[in-house]
This record gives sequence, structure tokens and C-alpha cells, in this order.
Amino acid sequence: MVDHDVFPAAGRPASLPVVRWDEPPEGPVLVLLDQTRLPAEEAELVCTDVPALAEAVRVLAVRGAPLLGIVGAYGVALAAARGYDVEEAAVHLAGTRPTAVNLGRGVSLALDAHRRASAEGAGPREAAAAALRAARELHRQDAEASARMAEHGAALLRELLPGGGYRLLTHCNTGRLVSGGEGTAFAVVRNVHRAGELRRLWVDETRPLLQGSRLTAWEAARNDMAYTLLPDAAAGSLFSAGEVDAVLVGADRIAADGSVANKVGSYPLAVLARYHHVPFIVVAPVTTVDADTPDGGSIEVEHRPGHEVTELSSPQVPGAGREPGTGAALAPLGTQAYNPAFDVTPPELVTAIVTEHGVVSPVTGDAIRDLCSRSRQV
Ligand code: MRU
Repeated sequence: MVDHDVFPAAGRPASLPVVRWDEPPEGPVLVLLDQTRLPAEEAELVCTDVPALAEAVRVLAVRGAPLLGIVGAYGVALAAARGYDVEEAAVHLAGTRPTAVNLGRGVSLALDAHRRASAEGAGPREAAAAALRAARELHRQDAEASARMAEHGAALLRELLPGGGYRLLTHCNTGRLVSGGEGTAFAVVRNVHRAGELRRLWVDETRPLLQGSRLTAWEAARNDMAYTLLPDAAAGSLFSAGEVDAVLVGADRIAADGSVANKVGSYPLAVLARYHHVPFIVVAPVTTVDADTPDGGSIEVEHRPGHEVTELSSPQVPGAGREPGTGAALAPLGTQAYNPAFDVTPPELVTAIVTEHGVVSPVTGDAIRDLCSRSRQV
């Protein structure tokens, strides 16, 4: 018997932008919606320099692959506009989290714009303006990509599962909070929800940092979706009860062979989905495809501090302490923890990868190469 109770849907749009550039009299700043405070409150985090922004990235105040690319680009623009060493800032920012390829890409994009402008004789102000233009363009393009992915993903669901009434399972957070637009996998969910075709969104809580319960449930509520939260370990029972029609997740890096790195816990879902003959669908912009990483084994997986597993602290509890030893103990003092932030799903377990340039299925190295060349031609 599956409990279909839903959380009360707040049904109101989020009021604050996820990221915005501002220019108060004291100088330019990057303002973030602080995701470590959600769902308790919508609070802004004002970053005046790159160390502050890098710290925001480290603690997951800002997170999710496409958004990391966008803030990486704005970070370079911020360093330039504030007169800091742009090259140093770029290295600092790009090294903050290793798995999402978008972060390094966003940083490089703005850095290249800055370098090009400087090489063409622009002064510091003009070069900084060039970096900002590049960041704004990436932000705009990501919103556009998100809208396309939503359409392609919804069309794929209708093709694979005619008749609507979808019960979709998702992991981590892939909505407006990770994007210039409505996100990746969650944008697809939102599309079918708006068409009246979503029966239920199953939301994995996503241990240990609870991106599912804190952020995806928050977004689902704001979109008035029928959703149910579950502990990650309960997904198996849900599949065996026949309650899942498809799994939709995002990606942090897609290797040249089609292997997908995403939030830890995605790979077990792909295994479950295969066993239960349920489609496992990855939704990601082409900026997440990394042709220079040959295969899944070559993807660097971020390992995070053990206290995120052994203690209840921020961001599990908005506003709580962040440093080791400042949270509530979940395990005996001194317990070692294994805490990879991501896992890698091999291409043969992925039914399809949905991008803004269309759907890749079956997922093979050739199909990924073809996608990359198609996207370069646009
Ligand atoms: O550690 P996070 O919260 O940054 O991880 C985010 C994810 O794993 C998302 O699923 C991924 O970035 C895809 S979202 C478009």
C-alpha cells in the first residue's frame, strides 16, 4: 500500500530571482537566492567578490550544473568589474567544485571574452563589460535551452508512454533553482503538469543534503503539483509496487561515451528502472556534455566532508552551523563517512538523454558525437 499523502502546496511563485547582477553605488555585486535557507525562508546572499562567491558555491548556497556555469561566468565579470585579478579569480572559481563541467565552462566563457577584449585594446572597464555581456548571454541561452528541453522531454514521454497520467520519479533538484529558466528534468515535469498529464511527482529526499525535500518539494509546491516525498531508500518499494512510469533526472557531466554523472543515488535508480522496465531519462543542456572526458571512469567525482553525513547541520537545517562539530550528531563521534556527491550511470542504463537539440536514444558514443556536431552547427 502506498501512502499518497501530499504536502500542502503553497501555490505561489517564488519572488526572488535565483541569480541577479546588481550595481549599487558601492560597486557591482552578484546577488544569489541562498539555497541553504530554503525552504524555511527566501533570503538573498550578496557576493561582493570571488572568495565570497566561491564560498557560496562550496556550501551549496548556489548549485546545480547549469546555474554553476552561469554564476561562474558572472563571477569572472564581478572580479573584472571590481578590479581584481581576473585570471586568478577564474582559477579559484573553476576549482571550487570539480564534477559539474558547466562551472569551468562558464568561467572560461567570460574569461575568454575578457581576454579577447583586452587583446583588442579595450581598457579595464570595457573588458569587464565584455565579460558581463558573456555572462548575460549564457544566462539567456540557458533559459532558452531549458524551454526547448521541456518541449523535447514532454514529447518523448508522450511517445514512450501514450495516454498521460504520468507518475514520475525525480532525484535531487533540477528546476528553476538550477537554471536561467525552469531547469532541466523538472522543466519537463512542469511541462506535462501544465498540460494536465502529471498524476504524481515522486520526490526523492536526496540524502545527505536533501536537495529533493528542501528544494524540489518547494518547487513542486509552488507549481501546485501533486507530489510525494520519499526517503531515497524507499524508491525500490515504489518500483515494485508498479507506481513509477518514468525516472527523470539531470546531469552534472556527460562523458563522450554517454556515461552520466549526477547526484549520488541516480545510478541505483537507473538499475532499479532497468529491472522494472521503466524508462530512465536524463535531461541536460549540451553545455553539460564533455567530449573531452572519454568515459564514466574518467569523470572526477567530488567527495564532500563526512560531517554532512554524520551530523545534521546546514544546509539540511537552514540556518544551522556549517562547520564540523556544530550540528546535531547522527552518528557516534569519530565515525568515518563515505560521501561522494555524485555517481556515474553507464550509458546502457540510460533510455534517453534529452537536450535542447533533441533526444539522444539509444545512448552511444556515436550518438553523443553526432549531438555535439549538431549543436556546433546551430
Ligand atoms: O550537489 P548539487 O546540488 O549541485 O547537485 C546537483 C545535481 O546533481 C543535479 O541533478 C544536476 O546538477 C543537474 S541539475 C540541472
